[in-house]
Amino acid sequence: MDRDILELLSEKIDMEKKSVEELLKMSMNEIREGIKELGKESFDPNTKNKIEDNNNSEFIGKNIYYYNSVKSTNLIAKFLAPDVPNGSVIISKMQTKGKGRSGKKYESPDGGIWLSIILKPNISPQKAPLLTLATAVAVTHTLEKLNIKAEIKWPNDVLINEKKVCGILTESIAKFNELESIIIGVGINSKIDITNFPSDLKENSITLQDVADSEISNEKIMGQFFEEFEKTYNEFIAENYENIFYEWRKHSHTIGKMVEIKQPLGKILVGYAIGINAEGVLIIEKPNGNLVKVFSGECREL
Ligand code: BTN
Repeated sequence: MDRDILELLSEKIDMEKKSVEELLKMSMNEIREGIKELGKESFDPNTKNKIEDNNNSEFIGKNIYYYNSVKSTNLIAKFLAPDVPNGSVIISKMQTKGKGRSGKKYESPDGGIWLSIILKPNISPQKAPLLTLATAVAVTHTLEKLNIKAEIKWPNDVLINEKKVCGILTESIAKFNELESIIIGVGINSKIDITNFPSDLKENSITLQDVADSEISNEKIMGQFFEEFEKTYNEFIAENYENIFYEWRKHSHTIGKMVEIKQPLGKILVGYAIGINAEGVLIIEKPNGNLVKVFSGECREL
């Protein structure tokens, strides 16, 4: 059974939720239990202690499943979400099919931080994107604690020296417009080798080891991130959105710049980024002076 589950977590089986039970001849509960078991087995006590020593949160990162290699931690998180407590975390040393925004592949080699947090807030699905902004704030706070100055490019890239160090992918699981869980996927280029990245990605990426004064362990970064994330998440639950927006604006690399935004249906919008409003929506001033709300899209700062 372990071998089958391992294959499920690797690239060998193309996992379509409906067919997995058939492929493995197991019930979804058995599959979940198998995935959980592997995630506990691969979590060596040394790594566990180092994360816990740096994590003073109450529920974020208190239940961790840790893997050597999976396709995508977000995918594993989706499988486990119905059956694990709020704040559970999936970590993998590497991902073979890391998911980026807009269906892009996310390079996730050994040495980076690739994790997904499973959340079960009692909110409407429309509020879920705000959690992406909250997560970007939590990442910048974590880096600041490590003496690294970071900025946020709308909506969810964290930059150091104008280059991307972290990407965030939020996915919701909803049934009949009722939110069941939110998966927050976070990828941080901590100690990875980017020399073999495709050239445009290499030019626009940076790693923490490029900028840190001294060696920082991934476990320390993760522990601190869980703590920072919990603080921001609690603000979100308490609906103190203004505090999150204030921090987001303070760290924004986008506000005050001319931007080009490729919207989901391919429409290109060019204008001046004025700010985010009280709903966390980006406001663009077009060349004719009209203001436009932008909910999502790929942003290029000009
Ligand atoms: C982006 O910038 O395009 C978003 C990237 C999100 C990457 C993280 S890595 C951990 C989690 N698992 C995934 O497959 N994706 C997210």
